[in-house]
Amino acid sequence: MVPTLSESSADGGGSRRFIYVTAALAALNGLLFGFDTGVISGALLYVHSDFLVSPAFQSLGLGAGVVKEFIVSGTLAGAIVGAAVGGRLADAFGRRRLILAGAAVFFGGSLVMAAASDVYWLIGGRVVVGLAIGVASVVGPLYISEIAPPAIRGSLVSFNQLAVTIGILCAYFVNYAFSGAGAWRYMLGAGMVPAAVLALGMAYMPESPRWLFENGRAERARQILRRSHSDEQVETEIAEIREAQAQEEAGLAELLKPWVRPALVVGIGLAIFQQVTGINTVIYYAPTILNQTGLSASSSIIATVGIGLINVAMTVVAIALVDRVGRRKLLLTGLGGMVVMLAILGGVFYVGLGGALGWAATVCLMLFVGSFAIGLGPVFWLLISEIYPTSVRGSAMGAASLCNWAANLVMGLSFLSIVDAIGTDYTFWALGVLTLVALLFSNRLVPETKGRTLEEIEADLRERYLTQQSGEFDGESDYGAD
Ligand code: GLC
Repeated sequence: MVPTLSESSADGGGSRRFIYVTAALAALNGLLFGFDTGVISGALLYVHSDFLVSPAFQSLGLGAGVVKEFIVSGTLAGAIVGAAVGGRLADAFGRRRLILAGAAVFFGGSLVMAAASDVYWLIGGRVVVGLAIGVASVVGPLYISEIAPPAIRGSLVSFNQLAVTIGILCAYFVNYAFSGAGAWRYMLGAGMVPAAVLALGMAYMPESPRWLFENGRAERARQILRRSHSDEQVETEIAEIREAQAQEEAGLAELLKPWVRPALVVGIGLAIFQQVTGINTVIYYAPTILNQTGLSASSSIIATVGIGLINVAMTVVAIALVDRVGRRKLLLTGLGGMVVMLAILGGVFYVGLGGALGWAATVCLMLFVGSFAIGLGPVFWLLISEIYPTSVRGSAMGAASLCNWAANLVMGLSFLSIVDAIGTDYTFWALGVLTLVALLFSNRLVPETKGRTLEEIEADLRERYLTQQSGEFDGESDYGAD
């Protein structure tokens, strides 16, 4: 056997450094996603209300408050569109080219916001950045999953979610570091830095070998696989990719084929559950919630930074565990923790606890976010990069991601009104019930993908369908057994 670039090891082989550098760089997509969604609430505090009112908005009767909502939700709306087209663009033009284009859009959008001469430019910039976020949320994990060796794919793809959490934390810091008139321009413009690094770095990174295969460039794909896989692994993967390819008729119609449907249900189900169980109500509104419990503004801010730190730390734990204990165990454990914390949160708000309420709520929110970060946070983005057949992976991830952003928008627009209508206690209990449903759904339907090649996962999906068709399927999930 011809020696490879570096020693092969039991869990992969080939040059690990190349793979880590590529994954870390591609994860900048996640950093931008986290930063740009997290920074706006703080930045808005410094946008003078004179800047927000324009004659056109005034003539429509829209005040500064509504305009602020446009600025916040403009990004989420942009992300919905970005996710909707991102998958198809990734299938059509390739993962690498789309990441490059996305980085340019991030850069341009941040520049437009930083230099905005009026509120229209600001809203426009937010929508543009939103488009890039939507695209990035699909193509980042997609690209990493397709270049990663199976044994460490879970950790590598989860780099992206780690970067999301670091981006959110950076946003919290930037929000508290800058102050004064015009600070918002620096805050929103700061996104230009990671965007530039992403663009420059990606220029040197290769295309996804799987995408190259799908597009008839087998030799180039083989060369790229050799950089991260041992020769033997390259041949095994190529044989598997070929086999999977031979069975596929690519195209959008494939997405709706009965055998792909179970994967589609899992992806879309988890996409919606990831948002409706309330994570971003905490990520976006923690200072507001905590301030209402009687904590001072500065304590609420410190507590929020603590929540951001736990989010990062527990994502690191998930990365360390995901390829060892598997996706299902992390997901189910994390969801269990969320249910418990939401039940307790509802309880502490119901009882009141007087002066202790603020800190009790802070601890519960930290444990809630920690439980999310070990399971549903990273595992959702990971699974949707693994469970679909290669021919439709981009589009199917796009569909899941789109539902995730849409649910995010709905929650963002409705959370504060729901709290007003039924109270904080019942809101948390309602979220707890939804999380329990998510737990049952995941236990029943989510497959274990640990340690398998993307083609093995695909073959399984097909086989399960055929077994079910021929009546041998006993209706019981065997997913738990790995
Ligand atoms: C996940 C969610 C995102 C959330 C983040 C928090 O990436 O998709 O909406 O803000 O986790 O860490």
